Amino acid sequence: MLRSTLTMKKRVLLAVLGATPIVLMGYSTGPPPKRTGAAVDGGVNCTLCHRTYAPANSDPIGSVRIDASNYVPGVKQTIHVTVSHPQAQRWGFQLSARLAGDDSKIAGNFAPNDVARVICDDGSARGSLAPCPAGQPEFAEHFDAPRTDVGAGFTFSVDWTPPPTNVGDVIFYAAGNAANGDGTFNGDRIYTTVRRISPPCGLTQKPAITGALNGASFQGPWSSGSLMSVFGSNFGTTGSNRVISAGDVVADKFPQSLACIAVTINGQNAPITYVQQNQINLQAPALAGVGAASIVVIANPGAPNELRSDPFTVTTQQALAPAIFTFNGNSIAATSADGSKIIANASVVPGGVPARPGDIIVFYATGMGTTNPGFTPGDIPLAAAQVSSPVAITVGGVSVPPADILYAGVSPQSICGLYQVNFKLPASLPDGDAAIVLNVGGTAAAGRTTVPIKN
Ligand code: HEC
Repeated sequence: MLRSTLTMKKRVLLAVLGATPIVLMGYSTGPPPKRTGAAVDGGVNCTLCHRTYAPANSDPIGSVRIDASNYVPGVKQTIHVTVSHPQAQRWGFQLSARLAGDDSKIAGNFAPNDVARVICDDGSARGSLAPCPAGQPEFAEHFDAPRTDVGAGFTFSVDWTPPPTNVGDVIFYAAGNAANGDGTFNGDRIYTTVRRISPPCGLTQKPAITGALNGASFQGPWSSGSLMSVFGSNFGTTGSNRVISAGDVVADKFPQSLACIAVTINGQNAPITYVQQNQINLQAPALAGVGAASIVVIANPGAPNELRSDPFTVTTQQALAPAIFTFNGNSIAATSADGSKIIANASVVPGGVPARPGDIIVFYATGMGTTNPGFTPGDIPLAAAQVSSPVAITVGGVSVPPADILYAGVSPQSICGLYQVNFKLPASLPDGDAAIVLNVGGTAAAGRTTVPIKN
């Protein structure tokens, strides 16, 4: 909801900009620098001028994609930026490589070729041609926007030489224009994307697992496709922690390794969302059967220096393992229907407010089983998909009528193991923390969870 509020603001802003005359210059021969959408460069992209379908990425049929491999210091590789849309017939792009640790700093250098030039952000409106003086960010971009048959798409390939030493992760930012070829900035669709790559993995300790729990309740039961946490040691260096970021998501899928760590459950790779020295958050793969499962944590996966933990057997896998995410172990992680308010006592979340009886609220959960349509673990659903099993809720001992459970299913735009439930609170509840019980397909959610109520 926060996202759509921001989108609204952007639309209003762009409508105002639309009234301002723009000086026309020859931009199909290469856009100005700093238009990849990277926040560090001002967060702006080609929709500053190509506004017909603004904001960027608003037409989901098209896309821009970056293909890049993990890097070896100093070893050149070719980066591919592919722009596609079934109705477009002219194509443009811009690409920048930055240090993940400080994305105001460039990472390595691009080489110009017959489809791409390289420009420097020298402070001028149009930039200057590379080689760039030290410290000036550089951008690879089209210089004579290619035309193709309608819908053919176009892949821009640019050689990139990473820094000669290990500089940690590198982030590529790209914008792509799937243009209609009319020679103006009208009718063109703009896309932005991010891709994060890593240097060779160098973890040196063999990981060890001590436990595996449901990712929402931190209690035993978990299920195929549920969010989980695995606990142990040597999952990274001391103090390190790595949260999934947009650049780790490739083709709308969460990665199966993060921060040089992979996890298998019954031999299947699990999508990973977070890694720190003693904890990994992941989504269980699609598993057949229930009961015992064998978990292995792999450091430096696939590399010659790979290190595997001893297998760890857990017996807590259930067919369904519903559990509600909480702020503090019992106060459910909930918002108002429009997402503008956090439902919690202010003592639990500063700024949180109690719900009123009869309010519609939204809470988040995992382990609710299959949905229609279904997803593969790691997928990011773009639209709603209802849980297949029957869902029941009681609040303060009062059953919520089925008609008041407005939605129980995946949480669009997030990993498919995250579910959300939108429902209407009973019309009459006393003030105080009301116990909330979620039941999916006959299985009650683990843990005692509550929602604060104030009339
Ligand atoms: C400052 C305004 C401005 C920005 C920012 C801008 N463009 Fe353009 N672009 C234009 C104008 C004006 C034209 C039409 C004149 C021309 O072809 O140069 C154009 C034309 C194009 C065309 C050909 C369109 C067609 O239908 O024939 C492509 C492709 C293109 N731009 C790509 C990009 C990309 C990619 C970006 C962002 C990285 C970008 N532009 C950013 C102003 C801009």
